[in-house]
Amino acid sequence: MLYYGGDYNPEQWPPEVWREDAELMREAGVNLVTVGIFSWAHLEPHEGTFDFGWLRQVLDLMGEAGVGVDLATPTAAPPPWLTTRYPDVLPVDERGARYSHGSRQHFCICNPTYLDLAHRIVERVATELGGHEAVRLWHAHNEYACHVPYCYCEHHARAFRSWLEERYGSVAALNDAWGSAFWSQRYSDFSEVTPPRMTPTFANPSQVLDYKRFTSEAFFAEFLAEKQVLKLARPDLPLTTNFMGFHKPLDYFRWASELDLVATDNYPDPADPNSTPLSAMHYDLIRSLNKAVPWVVMEQTSYRVNWRERNVPKSPGQMRALSFQALARGASGVLFFQWRASRSGAEKFHSAMVSHSGQASPIWREIVSLGRELAGQRSWDAAKVSARAAVVFSWPNWWALESPVSPASDFTMADQLSWLYSPLYRRSVTLDFACPSEPLGGYEAVLVPSLYLVTAAEAENLVGYVNNGGSAVITFWSGITDEHDRVYLGPYGGPLRPLIGCDVLEVAPLAPGDVVEIEWADGTRTSASFWVDIAAEREGEVLARVASGPWAGTPAVVRTEVGAGSAYYIGTRLDAEGLRRIFDAIPALRNGLGETDGVERVVRTGAGQRYEFLINHTDEDRKVQLAAPGYDMLGGREASGTLELGRRGVAIVRTAT
Ligand code: GLA
Repeated sequence: MLYYGGDYNPEQWPPEVWREDAELMREAGVNLVTVGIFSWAHLEPHEGTFDFGWLRQVLDLMGEAGVGVDLATPTAAPPPWLTTRYPDVLPVDERGARYSHGSRQHFCICNPTYLDLAHRIVERVATELGGHEAVRLWHAHNEYACHVPYCYCEHHARAFRSWLEERYGSVAALNDAWGSAFWSQRYSDFSEVTPPRMTPTFANPSQVLDYKRFTSEAFFAEFLAEKQVLKLARPDLPLTTNFMGFHKPLDYFRWASELDLVATDNYPDPADPNSTPLSAMHYDLIRSLNKAVPWVVMEQTSYRVNWRERNVPKSPGQMRALSFQALARGASGVLFFQWRASRSGAEKFHSAMVSHSGQASPIWREIVSLGRELAGQRSWDAAKVSARAAVVFSWPNWWALESPVSPASDFTMADQLSWLYSPLYRRSVTLDFACPSEPLGGYEAVLVPSLYLVTAAEAENLVGYVNNGGSAVITFWSGITDEHDRVYLGPYGGPLRPLIGCDVLEVAPLAPGDVVEIEWADGTRTSASFWVDIAAEREGEVLARVASGPWAGTPAVVRTEVGAGSAYYIGTRLDAEGLRRIFDAIPALRNGLGETDGVERVVRTGAGQRYEFLINHTDEDRKVQLAAPGYDMLGGREASGTLELGRRGVAIVRTAT
């Protein structure tokens, strides 16, 4: 069964509306709703006084309507009595200013009072409602570390010190790891260490990196504590929490191993022409975080969000097309924020499955029609998305790479990812993501965008992968620092140098707008921008060189045979044509399903069947050439030769393998 539904916040409505909700959910084919997510103030109206009656009534209604419940813990929004009575639960920013209540996510994850009260409400939710027959899934919290990832209060300072003591054992080891000889930062005792609060200029980057690690782990520890309580009450129920795709503060690779179902919230901006490939990339990441469990889109919008400056809506059919994008990339369901549009509050103009105008809205027709369409589809749910190549990605690298002390402080992971991912998306090459320490042997090729921070073990894994016959594409600013963000000395590259094939001696970020020419071995030219490595040749074969500007002559693309495999090092930001030449040389990156022209193509395979998803993301009709005849499952007809897809149209063509 594919999950279909959304966040349901019944406390915002009187009971008559709940009954109508249950009816409408049935009409729309809703089979899962997330409840309780922001209900703390209604479940515990006063400290230690609980009221579960109203929510039990809602669960009864859901059960009668055949709608499953994803029961959430309400810990992302402490009630006003809590922060009034215990104001130090409120987080503190880097300048020492305390946040107020009146919004959400206003708690400090290291505050013992918050933790006690949170565990108590979680425990009560679990024992009072966990046994209800409508409950199908546990949902811990909501978007951990969403609005206030970093708190700088004294509770954090204490917890950070203990974490550092545990990690380093001695202050001497801490000084060594942080390079504290610089700017007289040498610590004589752990008690002198603070979170990286506001400083006159750049804080110590190793300290900042450790604070990011510590914060990710503090949230993770709290997630595990909630998980333990929930699983104690109902070990048989699967458990999830909603991720946010490329959410920088939390190392989701670490979190996902603790989930039975990975879930994500995705809000591509219809006004951004690049948002469709970025949304695909988001789903590829989510699918890859825990390759052994299913995943869902826990939240998307039916039409429009309310938190951008200009909230451009999805055009007719686009919600369906983007839902199929997720399903094509492996999702086991699509859900929405939220079921019914709020009448008041900060999100009253965020679209929902049921609009302010109710069933008269065109959104309702789209919601009902997608619900019915999905209810009839299940055969491809068990089929796997097959990716022959993966993008190597790590959160600690992301944290360290985007540093204000870098040679280019506008160096972003997002740019690096989209530079490599978008052209492959356009040739319909499906990519997984992989963390640098995981086994890579199942992939024919890996892309390694700017793996600036790399541990010796990660580098060994990557070098071993190539040695054993893999192909790697590694881009500039890789292998620069160790796990403490200390530079590997010698030519840049550190333990990745066997894959770099030349000696990177200096790096040169280019002025904004500057472009250099690149000359390839056959004499043809392309261009590059942003960054140039200044490198001396070594054992690798130079495929292209910088051909203009002060660094003319330096190798730009170097191929190195390593054991049974090969590595391509790219020392500059090649243009699309330059990248194409490299991708063309690697079979797993060359043989996509063809240029998209706005039509996304993804294949899932399983049980002797091949399902090709074709999604027209444009507002025009498109014709697509099919490789083999098959059966168009949504259209209910045989398909061969050229398939016509109307604007925002979707087809799933099934063929036997
Ligand atoms: C997030 C939250 C929801 C809601 C939506 C709005 O995903 O989890 O509660 O605020 O954003 O887009």
